[in-house]
Amino acid sequence: MQEHQASITGGTCEGVDLAALAQREGTPLHAYSTSSIRQRIGDLKIALAGLDATICFAVKANPNLAILQLMANAGVGADIVSVGELRRALNAGMPAERIVFSGVGKSADEIAGALNVGILRFNVESLDELHTLQRVAKAQEVTARAAVRINPDVDAQTHAKISTGKSENKFGVGIDEARRWFADRKALTHVQLDGLHVHIGSQILSLDPFRLALQRVTAFWRELEQAGHPVNSIDVGGGLGVCYRAGVDRPVAAADYVDAIREALAGYRGRLLLEPGRWLVAEAGVLLTRVLRIKQGTERRFLVLDAAMNDLQRPSLYDAWHDIVPVTDEPRPPTTYDIVGPVCETGDTFARARELPECAAGDLLLIRATGAYGASMASTYNSRPLAAEVLLDQGRYAVVRRRQHFEDMIAGEQPARNWETA
Ligand code: LLP
Repeated sequence: MQEHQASITGGTCEGVDLAALAQREGTPLHAYSTSSIRQRIGDLKIALAGLDATICFAVKANPNLAILQLMANAGVGADIVSVGELRRALNAGMPAERIVFSGVGKSADEIAGALNVGILRFNVESLDELHTLQRVAKAQEVTARAAVRINPDVDAQTHAKISTGKSENKFGVGIDEARRWFADRKALTHVQLDGLHVHIGSQILSLDPFRLALQRVTAFWRELEQAGHPVNSIDVGGGLGVCYRAGVDRPVAAADYVDAIREALAGYRGRLLLEPGRWLVAEAGVLLTRVLRIKQGTERRFLVLDAAMNDLQRPSLYDAWHDIVPVTDEPRPPTTYDIVGPVCETGDTFARARELPECAAGDLLLIRATGAYGASMASTYNSRPLAAEVLLDQGRYAVVRRRQHFEDMIAGEQPARNWETA
């Protein structure tokens, strides 16, 4: 899928000169290629042709308002997990009827807020949540549309921290429990329980776990139909993996993924929902960073960047590989580095023993495929202000999040002056 990555040639990305961009906007800098995101949306839509399908972008992957606007303009909705994400989606112009709400910890207030604006569906993850939904909907005198999130007990064959479909995971409910929810459906006076949802994990590079999960969900759908419980919507979640390591990661093509869905759901006439996050945006993003210095340790040679784990947590959290390349094409001898950031812990390492063309202080590098779960998981650890974000579009760029100022970072903090008792 290399051709869908933000294409970088001769120091430019989408016609924008990266050295000039870094000079003007500073580093570290998150940059996203508009055409790469549009291409992905287009590819998925083509694969879905003829199906009654709605794409709900998993906002957590990249909640920047400009990205959400781009999605909204392309007719893409949102999969949200908090009222914060709901407000972002609405603010970006996504209609409530294209918003679904997932997550094990929706509070009564969040449920009320989402009901108020009339979202498409709640993906309900526990009996307690189902009862809360019924209570809040009744108080508002509305009917909530709901799907049960099935935990199919399938191993997604991905990193344990991003696996969600095993029965030991906190997500969803087993089919036996879901069966009881439908049997007791009549007691739900203000919840229309007529949907199924499944999401087994993230960065999945094989079709097998998807197929297995879908088989279990569709067997259950058939059983429900036979028992007289109509299923009007099946949400197949997200999870489609991307290429983080050129030549090694072999992501599933959108067409093959959708074919597997078509095959599993043969005969199903209701609405299909999809919640891709990473696949739509990861490869469109790069993190532009400058080499601060080279440090020769007693055992290893360190390349110290101005980006750190607070800007991109994936390598330290999941030992994730991200390709790292110099911006210049200038030929230089290969050298092996541990690539690290300035944060004061050893986990602040982007790569160990990585071979790169020899670098010098001041060189610009790109950390690739950072468009998903990059800026969205950033923090100000070590009092490092959040990096700026820019959108690139055919030779132009726009700042879509300005670099955080020191004052922004400490806003809300204050000396302990006003002591109160509680
Ligand atoms: N739907 C639900 C209910 C989810 O929980 C998620 C992701 C998605 C959809 C989107 O999954 P995607 O298509 O992006 O794989 N921070 C981690 C990834 C966490 C994913 C959480 N849930 C990482 O950087 O790898």
